[in-house]
Amino acid sequence: MRKLTHPIWKVRNLLLVLTVFWAIPAFSQEPAAAPKTAGEVYKNIQILKDMPAPHLMEVMHAFKDGLGVKCSFCHVEGAFEKDDKPEKQTARKMLVMAMGINKDNFGGEHRVTCWTCHRGATEPESKPPAAQ
Ligand code: HEC
Ligand code: HEC
Repeated sequence: MRKLTHPIWKVRNLLLVLTVFWAIPAFSQEPAAAPKTAGEVYKNIQILKDMPAPHLMEVMHAFKDGLGVKCSFCHVEGAFEKDDKPEKQTARKMLVMAMGINKDNFGGEHRVTCWTCHRGATEPESKPPAAQ
């Protein structure tokens, strides 16, 4: 028993305690490093499945501002997972198109966005104003 109070044991116990307290935050941090994907959190995600879930709303706001519309332009109010509005399906096609343009021409960076063409309008213009 006397042996356990020897300074060397105290140091050992202190190290043990430190190791345990170090290990706990290291483990509990792991979920924060890998947040759930949009596909796991939401009900009907087809294109953006692997995106971290918290980013989906940033994309939705980029859609809204890019086209100058409200969420209800694409969504049935109170049931965001529903695909009843054709605009939502068009948005999926547009998203795939924009991702393709960026992948093929801009190294996958988000250079061409909804705003690039739409500029806050639902129908992009194809000619400069003077030529219309
Ligand atoms: C231009 C069309 C468009 C606009 C505007 C838009 N969304 Fe979306 N939203 C989509 C599409 C398309 C998806 C599905 C994405 C996919 O399949 O990867 C989606 C998915 C969602 C989902 C996931 C629903 C589920 O459970 O599957 C939520 C929530 C959502 N949008 C909220 C919003 C909010 C809030 C706004 C307004 C700030 C908004 N959206 C504006 C097209 C739009
Ligand atoms: C390369 C240019 C381009 C980009 C980028 C683009 N769009 Fe479009 N989009 C168009 C054109 C052109 C039309 C009009 C098509 C028509 O009149 O038939 C259109 C039409 C649409 C429509 C139908 C509008 C309506 O009045 O029904 C939706 C919805 C839409 N785009 C969503 C998006 C979203 C969301 C993004 C970003 C992910 C996007 N678009 C990016 C060119 C683009």
